[in-house]
Amino acid sequence: MDQITIRRPDDWHLHLRDGDVLRHVLPFTARRFARAIVMPNLVPPVTTVDQALAYRRRILEALPPGTAFEPLMTLYLTDRTTAETIAAAAAEESVHAVKLYPAGATTNSDAGVTDIAHCDQALAAMEELDLPLLVHGETVGDDVDMFDREHRFIDERLLPLMDRHPGLRIVFEHITTARAAEFIASGPQRLAATITPQHLLFNRNHMLAGGIRPHYYCLPILKRERDREALLEAATSGHPRFFLGTDSAPHSRADKENACGCAGCFSACAAIELYAEVFAAAGRLDRLEGFASLHGPAFYHLPVNQDSITLTRSGWCLPDALPLGDGQSIVPLGAGRTLHWQLHTH
Ligand code: DOR
Ligand code: ZN
Repeated sequence: MDQITIRRPDDWHLHLRDGDVLRHVLPFTARRFARAIVMPNLVPPVTTVDQALAYRRRILEALPPGTAFEPLMTLYLTDRTTAETIAAAAAEESVHAVKLYPAGATTNSDAGVTDIAHCDQALAAMEELDLPLLVHGETVGDDVDMFDREHRFIDERLLPLMDRHPGLRIVFEHITTARAAEFIASGPQRLAATITPQHLLFNRNHMLAGGIRPHYYCLPILKRERDREALLEAATSGHPRFFLGTDSAPHSRADKENACGCAGCFSACAAIELYAEVFAAAGRLDRLEGFASLHGPAFYHLPVNQDSITLTRSGWCLPDALPLGDGQSIVPLGAGRTLHWQLHTH
């Protein structure tokens, strides 16, 4: 097979930032994807419907002329999010979900949730109004090992949350472990997960063996090879509750190659190509369309896209760096690597 045409995909987990960075990164996503679930972890975070609508307008204004792309907005859950805010979000058609960041877990999570108990009324309203909760599934604390954060979240936060809100639809974002993949696969219909390209392609040795490579550093952190294999199995299984979410998270080269480097891999410039690489290597290109274009809309109760994209088998090299504005540059995930599938430009 030298060519594959699939329904145009969507990215169900994306960081676009704002201002100059937004203008530089958005065209990459808009060229590949019809829609994206846009993360609300700006500074300050997007906590109200008005802020989400204003951010949505800035995204639309930053699109290259003539590009069709629909940002699917989310709100940032805090200890103080009210049921009224949730009702307003559920009533607004461009807001599609609410994101839970445990406070301190990742980039711009300072305003996140300190204790899920504080969010009970907001979560009850989401359950009632069928507005999905997206979780950054990590428990953080001085007593929590970095590599155990996801396990601890499942046992200590997610299971009690699911018991308490049995109707709440939940997306476990960017899963990183065999345990999480198994948890989703054997879980109820209301539970789904996104999987990033970095967690399908790399394990922690890629990041740490033979020198520390900050461009592989993201949160949740890369895990063991057996976890990567389990994620690959899940993504290529055809199971409808696993779908594409890049977690493409732009940080400048200077912020990554730093004594205290930021977490996040930037994959928007080759996102669907990276997934195609993974699916092709697994001999499962036939299941790329389900993962990239069908399972997400089904879970979010949205129509599938009507147009398509074509990938052709042809080698191309990922650039070492791309401009980010203001004299900054950004190093893409897999910089300098040769990819074997190229997005066909009509
Ligand atoms: O690696 C990450 N980067 N993980 C996150 O959860 C947030 C993201 C970011 O915003 O940079
Ligand atoms: Zn993210």
